[in-house]
Amino acid sequence: MSERLSGVAVVGSANLDLVVEVARPPRVGETLLGRAAGRFPGGKGLNQAVASARSGAPTRFCGVVGADEAGDLLQRTLTDAGVDGLVRRTDAAPTGVAHVFALEGGDNSIVVAAGANAELAAEDAAADVAGAAVVLAQLEVPAASVAAALRAARVAGALTLLNAAPAAARALDLLGDVDVLIVNETECEELGGVDALHAAGAAIVVLTRGADGVELHRRGAEVAHVPAFSIVPVDTTGAGDAFCGALAATLAAGAPIEDALVTASAAGAIVAQHQGANTPALTPEALRTMVATR
Ligand code: RIB
Repeated sequence: MSERLSGVAVVGSANLDLVVEVARPPRVGETLLGRAAGRFPGGKGLNQAVASARSGAPTRFCGVVGADEAGDLLQRTLTDAGVDGLVRRTDAAPTGVAHVFALEGGDNSIVVAAGANAELAAEDAAADVAGAAVVLAQLEVPAASVAAALRAARVAGALTLLNAAPAAARALDLLGDVDVLIVNETECEELGGVDALHAAGAAIVVLTRGADGVELHRRGAEVAHVPAFSIVPVDTTGAGDAFCGALAATLAAGAPIEDALVTASAAGAIVAQHQGANTPALTPEALRTMVATR
């Protein structure tokens, strides 16, 4: 990571999350009665940018929302969290929407309609990461835009992080420009497992395993394990995003990855104890307090 670079740039999606509480996901052909739990700011990119800023890093967000009320809400959310807005507005599509089924026990199932997220241009993504020390992306925006951002970041000497969510085979083509790949167990399996990911170019794979903690896989080294913080989850939506955002922020501050993973786990635990994918309860102080319980 070059010393000329600073802060975090997050390239990704911004969605309006429409949350319904329901005992289980519906089966094909079935109508279930649930309870409308609210409309929340979301999107993996926005959630990660907000978590990075709330973890204390100067953070910018590169993404696209529609010229509508939901877009206004998402732009305000970023501003309130202290994220530098590189958010673009488009008339070509409405703001992305995520239908979130909040299941009993804190788990969730999500369906995303990309809307304006599909409008993120590769040249904008590449331009927006200039000067950032750490660049973090996910896969809810066009793959070509993610590829352009990671390439530009790599050429500039930034540290590149990819959260391969939702998992898609195209992630494998991006790994040549990725320093740290973050996947959960489902995503890891869908992409062929840790060895396949190392072989495809990811030197470092961070495998998140929910209540079983996090594994740090470095090619050719012993696996390190970071235990999870013990919490009673309220809503796990966005907990993985908080993990990614806080990891980026802590790495941008110069921490070794082993320490950054502890802070990232604390961020995920804080968000999982609140409803919605973002919470102002995530602060540098709250992170220090939780990490100190280790
Ligand atoms: O990771 C959680 C996020 O996934 C939600 O906020 C939803 O918008 C989808 O992008």
